[in-house]
Amino acid sequence: MNVAVMGLQWGDEGKGKAIDYLARDFDVVVRYQGGHNAGHTIYHKGKMLALHLLPSGVCTPGTRSVITHGVVINPLALLAEMDDMSAQGIPIEDFFISADAPVILPEHQRLDDVFEEARYEKIGTTRRGIGPAYEDVAGRRAIFLGDLLDKDQLTAKLVPLNRFFNQLLSIYGGEPVSIDSYLDEYLQAGERLRSFICDTVPLLHQYNESGESILFEGAQGVLLDLRFGTYPFVTSSVPTVGGLFAGTGLSHKNLDKVVGVTKAYTTRVGGGPFPTELSGPLSEELRSLGNEYGATTGRPRRVGWLDLVALKYAVDINGVDELFLTKIDVLGQFETIPVLTDYRLPDGKVNRHFCADARRLSRVEGIYQELPGWNCQLEKMRKAEELPAQVLEYIRFIEDYVKVKVGCLSVGPTREQTIIMP
Ligand code: GDP
Ligand code: IMO
Ligand code: MG
Repeated sequence: MNVAVMGLQWGDEGKGKAIDYLARDFDVVVRYQGGHNAGHTIYHKGKMLALHLLPSGVCTPGTRSVITHGVVINPLALLAEMDDMSAQGIPIEDFFISADAPVILPEHQRLDDVFEEARYEKIGTTRRGIGPAYEDVAGRRAIFLGDLLDKDQLTAKLVPLNRFFNQLLSIYGGEPVSIDSYLDEYLQAGERLRSFICDTVPLLHQYNESGESILFEGAQGVLLDLRFGTYPFVTSSVPTVGGLFAGTGLSHKNLDKVVGVTKAYTTRVGGGPFPTELSGPLSEELRSLGNEYGATTGRPRRVGWLDLVALKYAVDINGVDELFLTKIDVLGQFETIPVLTDYRLPDGKVNRHFCADARRLSRVEGIYQELPGWNCQLEKMRKAEELPAQVLEYIRFIEDYVKVKVGCLSVGPTREQTIIMP
């Protein structure tokens, strides 16, 4: 059984927590797109860990980790993360990474900065060089991880590329980058990673054919997808289900189930439209109750109520089979909980169609249904029978709207704080 876990909102839905919970039933956990813009939080032996590139199954004994060619890799960030894990008593051993994963260079990071500065409306990127690195893949000039294993090949590819980057940087007023400032460090990083680097396409097919089960760890979320998200306020990769096939080389025949992760409310980091966004004291209250600060950049997350129009869109695009609903515990103090069910357009018409175009989405007005709150703490509950009727009503309302069942309910950040729903 191969299962994909994917974010259905603007990222940070709790995918790390879901993967950490589910991983014990799988042989392999695979990261297949995005880069170290992702921040997936898990708890291990009482300690919080934020993973950026390593799959969130690393803490599950007996589970192998694979990073495929769909992920853009900053080799220094990857090694720092591996070292950090080892220092915490989690050695990275059963681990494979694709030779064809595009490499994020220092020039990409600088370009990410200058492009962002030059924008009229900021995307609020993580400034990790993710966008420029994916641009190079589409531009057919990318450097791949395997190139770091051959100094001559790397240098031959880098020289014209660096000239191109520096011209681009000069147009945007950015400082040039010299290859010498990082070449040795990147070559050394390649050497340290050499024993993990392989072709992950045949590797995954081999696992699959020998009956091993694979858990695919999505990064980001549907609403950040390059084309299905709120363009241009999106990331540069494909967090929707198509990105899994493009990013692994497996086919739809190798995927048995899609689990969609959504918070019981909504958050967003960075710019762009957000129809249910709260402001003022209520937003501060929800941010503080949910501890909504980015796992990668530490930025405060924008917060708002659940947007069912957007959630239904995300469920449909990803072909979600089951929901993993997180952070329901955070809503324990509200008398009533508004949930967006419809959009009113500027011409007064009401509909349930999500529009990914940022300008149009910024003009919709939300129509809400108020659901009763439950006024109690859920953090210690472990069985569906313990849940108050209002929580079950909240869940049923979501299920009826998006036409998909909630399979798991998360009532806290740790693995144990998970309820399997009947
Ligand atoms: P990801 O990017 O989708 O993996 O999500 P992040 O880790 O960036 O953000 C989710 C945050 O919510 C993390 O701080 C998690 O520890 C936390 N979290 C996950 N599930 C729950 C939950 O059910 N309740 C609470 N209170 N926190 C949760
Ligand atoms: P996880 O996997 C939340 C957002 C950034 C920015 C936009 C583009 O933890 O859910 P980028 O650096 O990718 O070019 O930034 O995308 N973003 C995320 N927001 N969670 C993420 O990942 C994100 N990855 C990118 O904040 O708005
Ligand atoms: Mg995150």
